Amino acid sequence: MGMEAPVPQDDKQRPNDRTFVFRAPEELDGRPAQKRIATNNMQSRTILITGGAGFIGSHLIRLFVNKYPHYRIVNLDALTYAGNLENLRDVEQATKYSFIKADIRDADVLSQLFAEHNFDSVIHLAAESHVDRSISNPMAFVQTNVIGTVNLLNVAKTAWKGKFEGKRFYHVSTDEVYGSLHDGGFFTEETSYDPKSPYSASKGASDHFVRAYGNTYNLPFVISNCSNNYGSHQFPEKLIPLMIHNLREGKPLPVYGKGENVRDWLWVEDHARAIDVVFHEGKDGETYNIGGHNEWKNIDLIHVLCSVMDKKLGRTAGESAKQITYVTDRAGHDLRYAIDASKIDRELGWKPSITFEDGLEQTVDWYLANDQWLRDVTTGAYREYYDEQYAKR
Ligand code: NAD
Ligand code: TYD
Repeated sequence: MGMEAPVPQDDKQRPNDRTFVFRAPEELDGRPAQKRIATNNMQSRTILITGGAGFIGSHLIRLFVNKYPHYRIVNLDALTYAGNLENLRDVEQATKYSFIKADIRDADVLSQLFAEHNFDSVIHLAAESHVDRSISNPMAFVQTNVIGTVNLLNVAKTAWKGKFEGKRFYHVSTDEVYGSLHDGGFFTEETSYDPKSPYSASKGASDHFVRAYGNTYNLPFVISNCSNNYGSHQFPEKLIPLMIHNLREGKPLPVYGKGENVRDWLWVEDHARAIDVVFHEGKDGETYNIGGHNEWKNIDLIHVLCSVMDKKLGRTAGESAKQITYVTDRAGHDLRYAIDASKIDRELGWKPSITFEDGLEQTVDWYLANDQWLRDVTTGAYREYYDEQYAKR
């Protein structure tokens, strides 16, 4: 890992602690992490990946296309505001990869695709993914995250006709389904669902439907619930790319409330690696939590980001932090998310690979080097969204 010695977690002292805290998985249960070598990836597969033009989906597609060139991969994405084929330029010519623009709510199209491609697996990432948008427009989240997911389950069940040998439905979900932590502790796979935002409620509902299809129809599924991702190609409505964009433009950095909310940040490429491991080695019917062992209060994270930007933009130390502005809090803002990711380490040998400092620096470097990408996605509709969300805050 190249990490410093683990620092024990202590919620009471965390809020003012700006240092990076790495909680080694071994600390969680006292057992050393076991390494498993993936053996399940030699056979040929035909995989439907949904949402592959989005942030995490594009990283997953890149990983799979390069690592498993013998797999047939169909990327289905509706190309909403969050989907961008530019994210996949480097892999779009791969022989066994193809893209289809379609909506997961469209059962007819999904059925035709299953008939045509004979998928043996689905990795489902397509979703409306932004909490603030779910507050302004919850129905879009019900439509895509709930109805779209049930549609996909139904089509897979019908196409597989009860012959489930070698089949797998992998549902990619979020730690936000567990609600908000207020008194310390961590989300485990046994934590009861307690979603608090329309986004997390819609993801929670979709998780329940996946398990219901497993229980009722024996559909072979696996679910993972991951903490906040960061990295390249993330749409600048989420905290880190939005702050990088505003820092660059000299615009205010809108910190919700007092900036005391805590998130557990994971490098997106590590999430893609985790999905790879769970897809190939996870057990049917199981849930795996994925997290970065990397909790930050928003305001502390923003200060670190400001220092990185000072350095990268040749500003004097402290200059970027002057852009910090406190704005009205998000309605129903979850206080803290923190994942206990010991199960996936213990059972499947996965753990995060890089430190937050390195990941953050690489992320900033990517956004600064890909100015055109950022410009393209922040014109037109983005400006309208930004004004709607922030102008009156
Ligand atoms: P994203 O918003 O960047 O991408 C979502 C993709 O889904 C886009 O390409 C979009 O075009 C597509 N899509 C949306 N509605 C669709 C529809 N009706 N039919 C077909 N395609 C549609 O999201 P992301 O951050 O990459 O998240 C991917 C998945 O991972 C989501 O299911 C999300 O809930 C989950 N997740 C995200 C995070 C995170 O920090 N971003 C953390 C944990 C879990
Ligand atoms: P976000 O990236 O939207 O992820 P999520 O809400 O799914 O965790 O936000 C991360 C944290 O940053 C969250 O506590 C809300 C906060 N935040 C701000 O303070 N300002 C912003 O402009 C945004 C987008 C988020």
